[in-house]
Amino acid sequence: MKFAPFVNLLTGQGAEAWDILTESRLALDRGEDVIVLSIGDPDFQTSAFVVNAAIEAMRNGDTHYTELEGRQSLRRAIAEKASRSAGIAIDGDWVTVLAGTQNAFYSACRCLFGVGDEVIVLDPAYVTYEASIASTGARQVRVPQPSDSGFRPDIEAISRAITPSTRGIVFSNPSNPTGVALTLSELEGLARLAVDHDLWVLVDEVYGDLVFDGTHHSIMGMPGMLERTVTVSSVSKSYAMTGWRCGWAIGPPELGEHLRKMALINLYGLPGFVMEAADAALRHGDQEIEVARDTYRERRNLVVEKLQAARALPVLVPEAGMFLMADVRAHNPDANSFAWDLYKTTGVSVLDAGAFGVTSQGWIRISYGVDEQRLEEACRRIIAFTHS
Ligand SMILES: Cc1ncc(COP(=O)(O)O)c(C=O)c1O
Repeated sequence: MKFAPFVNLLTGQGAEAWDILTESRLALDRGEDVIVLSIGDPDFQTSAFVVNAAIEAMRNGDTHYTELEGRQSLRRAIAEKASRSAGIAIDGDWVTVLAGTQNAFYSACRCLFGVGDEVIVLDPAYVTYEASIASTGARQVRVPQPSDSGFRPDIEAISRAITPSTRGIVFSNPSNPTGVALTLSELEGLARLAVDHDLWVLVDEVYGDLVFDGTHHSIMGMPGMLERTVTVSSVSKSYAMTGWRCGWAIGPPELGEHLRKMALINLYGLPGFVMEAADAALRHGDQEIEVARDTYRERRNLVVEKLQAARALPVLVPEAGMFLMADVRAHNPDANSFAWDLYKTTGVSVLDAGAFGVTSQGWIRISYGVDEQRLEEACRRIIAFTHS
């Protein structure tokens, strides 16, 4: 039987980079001595009060169909949090609850972009953006954020990439894989382009709570941006809730109407008990965020210090999130083959960052989503490998 051409869009660039994750997880299950630093799933447990909120809701019969756009109370809690990072008041009507950042990103793409459109994507970019944009029929235009300037946005290059067909600019802030958190002036530069050329901005802020130094800024709060920004995020990384699949899109209520109809034909509403858990996390989980941020900051410092002190690999010090980029070009220009050699020799599994775009070719992405002891051991093995 034949499948639709759509299925060909589902394999993004560098999908094979993930083979190392699959293989190392299987090895871990077999009890082998491997350290998996190729995925960004927090190693903390979801807090008991959050789990209890879900259990209580289930016991109380919250196991039926729910509101397609999400529960009022949760939408308000999300809007309150977003208002704080945007510095402006955002109403709960601007929020649609969806199944994680990923689902929110994809759903937003389907509502914003279409055949013949060009969408500017800051490169390197989170891997799933490519297929999400391609699914709309739009063409993605990757604009490199050069590694020799720390993978920071090149506003001039972005400006040059804009054509009459450009409909939007897409990026994550803070970024996966680079850990770059955009400054106010960088965001102003992007906002100016969006306003001047009447573009949508679709921004993924899933790591917004995990900025180590300074503050996370939301572009939607900037002049002229509220009506043209769609912000997607979730409870996944902030509250160690990746498996709960609760996220959202924030944008003009008219977009909310479209997203609601999209939810009708696919998601059909999130489970009520999941929304109750997310509501509890958002309203009472500030301490969880602080612990996560402090823990990741300490782990980041540990990896940076170890790798730099041993002159193992040049690293880009991440400002946020749970990943660190290291340049392996002096050892092997092919970072995928470096990653496999490292894994086969030492059992440490890292990811070829070339999977995120051409700009990050020759770099690996190291996750610090494991405890300090294993992280220290991983650094010891990486250092020994690079010195051998
Ligand atoms: C930049 C980015 N966006 C989205 C996601 C997926 O988040 P969620 O679990 O909310 O779908 C990830 C997960 O690693 C990510 O790194």
